[in-house]
Amino acid sequence: MQTRIDEIADGVYRLSTCVPEAAPGGFTFNQFLINGDDPLLFHTGPRGMFPLVSQAIARVIPLARIRWITFGHLESDECGAMNEFLAVAPQAQVAHGALGCMVSLDDLCDRQPRKLADGEVIDLGGKRIRHIDTPHVPHNWEARVLFEETTKTLLCGDLFTHTGDRPPLTDNDIVGPALAAEELFHATALTVVTAPTIRRLATLEPQVLAPMHGSSTRTGCGEALLKLADAYESLVKQREARE
Ligand SMILES: [Fe+2]
Ligand SMILES: [Fe+2]
Repeated sequence: MQTRIDEIADGVYRLSTCVPEAAPGGFTFNQFLINGDDPLLFHTGPRGMFPLVSQAIARVIPLARIRWITFGHLESDECGAMNEFLAVAPQAQVAHGALGCMVSLDDLCDRQPRKLADGEVIDLGGKRIRHIDTPHVPHNWEARVLFEETTKTLLCGDLFTHTGDRPPLTDNDIVGPALAAEELFHATALTVVTAPTIRRLATLEPQVLAPMHGSSTRTGCGEALLKLADAYESLVKQREARE
């Protein structure tokens, strides 16, 4: 396995490792490095991937410069290697929503995490990261996304998850592949809050969507969010009708 690095927006680096056996056609695990004066990492990868991911980051910046370690929610692909990163980056701190810190991270992190309120911004120096709580979207109580305001990049985590070893940036539709992956994995918590939460993200008017699994896109981002919300809403309604 190899980790490729692509700058998908100014100072926003996508690190991507394709695991061939994780899904038919392969499945990518992506981390994002936001390179401000205080660099921020979104997703650490699982512990087993730490050598690959950390070596890839070191091709962009020295690991010791990492200031913030962040992720969407608590699963091993999102945050398995957080303590490994805390160990190699002495000034780094995990930053997450207050709920995730209270429920899990105050206990799990080797150093105290920073608790963020919904909408709170971390100024990285040249880049600005806004924390947005999205409880149970796409899954997990402590779920959140990040929005990098200068490039309008939505670090949307497991939203738009799709399979295959596809290019770092695509102009193709990513909603269809995301719905196909949903049929395969059933990973999304489909509830009455799913669609309204995703529609709220569309009001940010993102210019870049950066999913954790699959290609990023700069094409029709707001529209893609609204289409995804509509599709999930109709899945919820179908389910209700069957019950
Ligand atoms: Fe997840
Ligand atoms: Fe994930």
